[in-house]
Amino acid sequence: MPPSILVTGGAGYVGSHTVATLLERDDNRYDIVVVDNLSNSYRSENEKKPEALRRIEDMTGSTIHFYANDIRDRAALNRIFENHEIECVIHFAALKAVGESVEKPLEYYQANITGTCTLLEVMREHGVTQLVYSSSCTVYGEPQKLPLDEGHPTGQGISSPYGRTKYFCEEIMKDLCASDQNWKVISLRYFNPVGAHGSGRIGEDPYGIPNNLMPFISQVAVGRLSELLVFGGDYPTADGSGVRDYIHVQDLADGHVRAIQLFQDPRFVGFQPINLGTGTGYSVLQMVAAFEAASGCKIPHRVVGRRAGDIATNYADVSLARQLLGWGASRTVIDMCRDTWKWQSENPNGYKN
Ligand code: NAD
Ligand code: WQD
Repeated sequence: MPPSILVTGGAGYVGSHTVATLLERDDNRYDIVVVDNLSNSYRSENEKKPEALRRIEDMTGSTIHFYANDIRDRAALNRIFENHEIECVIHFAALKAVGESVEKPLEYYQANITGTCTLLEVMREHGVTQLVYSSSCTVYGEPQKLPLDEGHPTGQGISSPYGRTKYFCEEIMKDLCASDQNWKVISLRYFNPVGAHGSGRIGEDPYGIPNNLMPFISQVAVGRLSELLVFGGDYPTADGSGVRDYIHVQDLADGHVRAIQLFQDPRFVGFQPINLGTGTGYSVLQMVAAFEAASGCKIPHRVVGRRAGDIATNYADVSLARQLLGWGASRTVIDMCRDTWKWQSENPNGYKN
């Protein structure tokens, strides 16, 4: 049996792009096994596999093993580890809507923390001790200094239960690594993932009205939404709108491949957080202008009051990623907007039809 990578949440946005990137590599030696409960990904009625994975199989000519299970289902996870020779896990599965997490904190702690603990326990039972974790710049809370490096304090002033689940999971994995030298955990702290696969066949397909900036802009462009509300015009930034470190999802996916390669280095052990961003911040109004330039569409927009919990500016120090992973983002903001537009214009209703 070839070695496998288990990808939890692999039918979702970042997971599907990472699966595609792994399978597209000429030197890929892994089978890909995905577990996803489909709570935030789409599968059409008559199909066994989610649409994103079906399209990746079509693009790459590979077969993806798919299990429609929840990561809290210990028996189901056990069966997956019995059926495949799992070498390492990339753990994307989580609930991620910041606003919803304020309304439903218990659901978020249950899914994200209990889910992660169940996964770690089952991994340990099967002697699998290599994990790449999807963390977030949200663990830094309100930045005390910029750019944010991995030495910046975490856990203070996090504005949502969602953000705290990411912080608590990091702490749990840190303790686990301290207790047992066999564990290797790389916690990738994503800044703002945007964009889509260059083919336009897979991309971000949020349920309902998008919370995040780029899917909102692209749905305005395609006519599904009428205008963008720019949350805040009075931040201490060049144009008054909020500044973020947007990173192309394909660059992010490459970062996961590099993390898996780091597991091969026998000197690497323990818990290691690593930022994945570009190191450069762009404002909301700059992103609107970039999208207009890349798509040729006008984006009607209006500046309104600030959104609760938002910070003015954040961007990453990415030197550790370069040092440890030999990784750096190569795609520009125009690439991000062009690929988002290709996906959205060719799939105006996302994966449905
Ligand atoms: P997503 O919602 O598109 O993907 C998550 C996938 O996990 C979905 O397909 C969902 O159905 C599945 N899932 C959720 N709970 C599950 C459970 N209990 N059992 C099995 N499957 C489950 O989200 P994404 O944007 O791809 O994010 C992936 C990961 O990256 C998440 O952990 C998220 O917190 C983290 N992250 C995302 C961003 C971002 O802006 N997209 C930024 C930082 C960190
Ligand atoms: C970006 C900018 C908004 C929507 C969130 C999570 C964070 C991480 C990434 C997971 C901000 C502005 C947005 C809109 C707007 N996710 N905006 N109008 O808030 O930086 O981060 O996603 O870990 O934890 O909090 O991303 O895309 O929501 O916002 O003006 O309709 O766009 O105010 O300045 P954010 P975002």
